[in-house]
Amino acid sequence: MNLTLHVWRQKGSRTPGRFVIYPAVGIDPDMSFLEMLDVVNEGLTKEGEEPIAFDHDCREGICGMCGVVINGRPHGPAGGATTCQVHLRQFRDGDELWIEPWRARAFPVVKDLVVDRSAFDRIIQAGGFVTARTGSAPDGNALPIPKRDADRAMDAAACIGCGACVAACPNAAAVLFVAAKVTHLASLPQGQPERYDRVRRMVEAMEAEGFGACTNHGECMAACPKEISIDCIAQLNRDFIKAAAGRA
Ligand code: SF4
Ligand code: FES
Repeated sequence: MNLTLHVWRQKGSRTPGRFVIYPAVGIDPDMSFLEMLDVVNEGLTKEGEEPIAFDHDCREGICGMCGVVINGRPHGPAGGATTCQVHLRQFRDGDELWIEPWRARAFPVVKDLVVDRSAFDRIIQAGGFVTARTGSAPDGNALPIPKRDADRAMDAAACIGCGACVAACPNAAAVLFVAAKVTHLASLPQGQPERYDRVRRMVEAMEAEGFGACTNHGECMAACPKEISIDCIAQLNRDFIKAAAGRA
């Protein structure tokens, strides 16, 4: 198949960027989206041009590195999948694709499609951990946890920190990301000692990084490759209110 790519090229956060058109010719529909970018980059390199910078690591939906906006949708058209899990058979021969980095003040562009997501790392450092001594892996039945709580923690722990929720939100809010971390740890006994300090510190860190406020658009959940539920935001709000009111 043949595609026309409009790719955002930008040398750095202080340099203005622009879309540049590249043809992707004779592409196998079973290629992944990132493999297609590899092919385009091989062509650019052979012509002595600078390849398109894009982030990636695992290429199997685990690491959260690869996010780009494809035709206005974070991670593209697949739904419940990361950019590296998008395949070209999801497009039609002759399609034009606009490929952009995440757009958020807290995620400055490093180069082309690569953004700096270290703001998420600093939010995690503020509270996304437990101080309980966990030691080596315990026997599965040593600490009984109700199935409902274990499922809730596991679902929230699926967040891979990709940032698509921020990119999709009209306010560039990071609330779904923070809510996933808070819900994961608040659902488990190990997360109880710091539960209310955690939520307060993580929300403060989120605000200090310049993310916007949540106004319940729900775009975050629609864009999330791990389908993290906005129910987690309700959990975050409940715990934050208790922490702020000094009732916990
Ligand atoms: S909540 Fe979803 S979209 Fe947001 S960082 Fe986590 S996995 Fe990515
Ligand atoms: S490269 Fe790891 S999630 Fe896509």
